[in-house]
Amino acid sequence: MKKDLFILGIETSCDETAASVVKNGTEIVSNIVASQIPSQQRFGGVVPEIASRHHVEQITLVIEEALAKANLTPSDLDAVAVTEGPGLVGALLIGINAAKAFAFANGRPIIGVHHIAGHIYANELVQRMEFPLLALIVSGGHTELVLMEQHGSFKLIGETRDDAAGEAYDKVARVLGLPYPGGPHIDKLAHESDGEIEFPRAWLEPDSYDFSFSGLKSAVINYKHNQEQKGQSVNGAHVAAGFQASVVDVLTSKTLKAAKEYGVKQVIAAGGVAANKGLRSSLEKVFNEAEIPFYVPPISLCTDNAAMIAAAGSAMFVDGIRGDLTMNGKPGMPLTSWKK
Ligand code: KG4
Ligand code: ZN
Repeated sequence: MKKDLFILGIETSCDETAASVVKNGTEIVSNIVASQIPSQQRFGGVVPEIASRHHVEQITLVIEEALAKANLTPSDLDAVAVTEGPGLVGALLIGINAAKAFAFANGRPIIGVHHIAGHIYANELVQRMEFPLLALIVSGGHTELVLMEQHGSFKLIGETRDDAAGEAYDKVARVLGLPYPGGPHIDKLAHESDGEIEFPRAWLEPDSYDFSFSGLKSAVINYKHNQEQKGQSVNGAHVAAGFQASVVDVLTSKTLKAAKEYGVKQVIAAGGVAANKGLRSSLEKVFNEAEIPFYVPPISLCTDNAAMIAAAGSAMFVDGIRGDLTMNGKPGMPLTSWKK
């Protein structure tokens, strides 16, 4: 009988300290996330120094809890997978050093995972991947369309030229006086709104799958200033609804066009902004009409977590990928294929 594969995942690239054990690359055995959001809210965003300090305080506890909940000891694990990049370098290093110490002390292999590969592989925890596959990754740091022809193969076909979608959400939320992180607040306001301000869509060149959100962000800021100068009030819900409509329209249209052009068998959405209700329902609707299977993980697996890192690490482990104790944090790590 084939032995089960147990991978410990560790994620500390931004403001969540997370550890998880995943069985056979698809089954969550434990999934612990210590969020720093309440602390970062006081500053209206992530302060790197504070993020690192929180990670240091939490990392050992979170790893111990992940093992305890899984009812496993380090010797039951096949490897430890950790986010190698991209992210805040100080934050990455806390997870990497914890993973290295764990790997060394327990004689386990270590695997360095790309954060975006993790977001994509979150989907394996709910639904088997089918190739060719198109992934829309929308998070606080990323907006990318990635084509996968097989496991471990990533081709970037489009990306943002300026702000990431989540970054635009967070900045617009700030303009509207909403707390950090702004995405969920704008999402809620947009849903409750009884009207909508029309904002522009950045389509870029007709054949481009790239994105741009900084013009939209400026349009929101200008609208607010103009209203204030005219002594008129700003209806936050109408602004939120108009902003969200613009983001969702562009993301949905480009993802649909790419899915058709590349003839994919499956489309998945990943990353924190994939938690957005408006985006989820818009993608579900168009892919239902186009009869292309579309999947998005539950919200807890869309935002940063370590189960997704363990899931990607499991696929890498199966393909024989191993890191070593010279591993370092890579803040600008590119998404490269581990299978050529
Ligand atoms: O993937 P994630 O947890 O961290 C990064 O890797 O960046 O994504 C965080 C981002 C934040 O910008 C947050 O505002 C956004 O995801 N977000 C949302 C929603 N929930 C989280 N954006 C729009 N709608 C949401 N419901
Ligand atoms: Zn993320």
